[in-house]
Amino acid sequence: MRQSEARLRATIESATDGIVTVDEDGVVISANPAAAAMFGYALGDLVGETIDSLVDRGRRERRPRDLLAIVDRGYFRRRRELRGRRRDGAIVPIDCAVSEIGFAHPRRLFAVCLQDLSERRRAEARIRRLDSDRLLAMGGVARTLAHEINQPLTATAAYLKAAKRMVAKGSECRAKEAEEALDRACEQVLRAGDIIRRLRECIAHREPDKTCVRLHRLIAEVCERMARGGDVELVLRLGARDDLVIADAEQIERVMTNLIGNAIEALQKAERRRLCVSTAAVAAKMIRIDVADSGPGLSETASARLFEPFESTKPRGLGVGLSLSRSIVEAHYGRIWAEPNEGGGTVFSFTLPLAE
Ligand SMILES: Nc1ncnc2c1ncn2[C@@H]1O[C@H](COP(=O)(O)OP(=O)(O)OP(=O)(O)O)[C@@H](O)[C@H]1O
Ligand SMILES: [Mg+2]
Repeated sequence: MRQSEARLRATIESATDGIVTVDEDGVVISANPAAAAMFGYALGDLVGETIDSLVDRGRRERRPRDLLAIVDRGYFRRRRELRGRRRDGAIVPIDCAVSEIGFAHPRRLFAVCLQDLSERRRAEARIRRLDSDRLLAMGGVARTLAHEINQPLTATAAYLKAAKRMVAKGSECRAKEAEEALDRACEQVLRAGDIIRRLRECIAHREPDKTCVRLHRLIAEVCERMARGGDVELVLRLGARDDLVIADAEQIERVMTNLIGNAIEALQKAERRRLCVSTAAVAAKMIRIDVADSGPGLSETASARLFEPFESTKPRGLGVGLSLSRSIVEAHYGRIWAEPNEGGGTVFSFTLPLAE
C-alpha cells in the first residue's frame, strides 16, 4: 500500500500537466510542480490560493464562487479552455477539466487537471500568419506575373515575326539573320520560364524539413560556386567555433544564394569588388552569418521596403530574394537584417539557432 501510494505521488509530481486539488470553496489544498510553474508560483505557495484568483473569467462571465456549484451545474463536464492568471498578472490560455474525487472526506474534493496551451496557440498564430503572408504573396505574384511576363512575350513575338519575314525572303544571308532572331526568341522564352519558376518558389514556400547541417561547409560551397570565374575578391572568415545547426539545407542554401547574388550584383557598380562572408557565435546558442560587400550601399528606395516582396530597384529584378530569405530564416527561428558596411557597402546578417 505504502509503495503504491509513493508511486502515485511520484507520478503526480512528475506529470507535465498541472494537477491541483481544491475543496468545495475552490481553495487549493495541494498542487504539483507543473501547476505551480504554470501559474508562476513557488511550489508550496499555490496552496491556499482560490481558483477564482487563478482564473480570469472576463467581464461577461458570471463568477460562480464555489466549485461545487460549477460541477453540479455541469459547467465543467467537458474539457474547457480558460484564461489562467499567473502570479505576475500575465494571462495564459489553459485547458481545464474538473472531476470530483470520490472518497469520504468531511468536505467534497475536486481534482483540477490543467494544460498550458500557450505553445499551441503560438504555433496556430504562426500558421495563420504564414497563410495570410501566402495570400498577400499570391496577389503580388499575380500582379508581377502579368507585368513581368508581358515583356519577354512581346519580345518573343517580335523576334519570331522578324525570323518569319527573313525566311520568306529566302536568301542565304537572311537565313543567318533568321537564326539569330530565333536564338533571341528562345532566350526570351527561357527568361519568361525563369520568372514563372521563381514566382512559383515564392508561393510554394514550404515548412522547413530540418536535419543536422554543417553550416560552414554549406557556406563555403555556395560561395565557391557563385564567385567562380567572376571578378569579385572573396574572403571567407568562418570563425564560429560551433557550426552545427538543425536546418533545411536546401532553404538555407537559397538564403545564401540570394544574399551573395545580391552582393555580387551590387559590386558590379563598384571599383573595389570585395565580398566577405563570415560567421560568429552570438548569445543564446545562436550563430550569425554576415555577408558584407564593398558595393554602393542600399539606395533610399531599397532600404524603405527592403524585405517586402516584389520590391526591386533592378531592371530585371523580381524583388522576391530578400522576402523569401526572411520567411526562411524566421521559420528557422532566426532573424535577418541589413546594416551599412564600415568603409562603404552593405552587410546582410542572419542568425540561426545552433544544435544543442
Ligand atoms: N547587397 C546589396 N547592396 C545594395 N542593394 C541591395 C543589396 N541587396 C539587396 N539590395 C536592394 O534590395 C532590393 C531587393 O532585393 P531582393 O533580393 O529582394 O530583390 P532583387 O535582387 O531586386 O530581385 P530578385 O532577388 O527577385 O532577383 C534590390 O532590388 C536592391 O535594391
Ligand atoms: Mg535578389
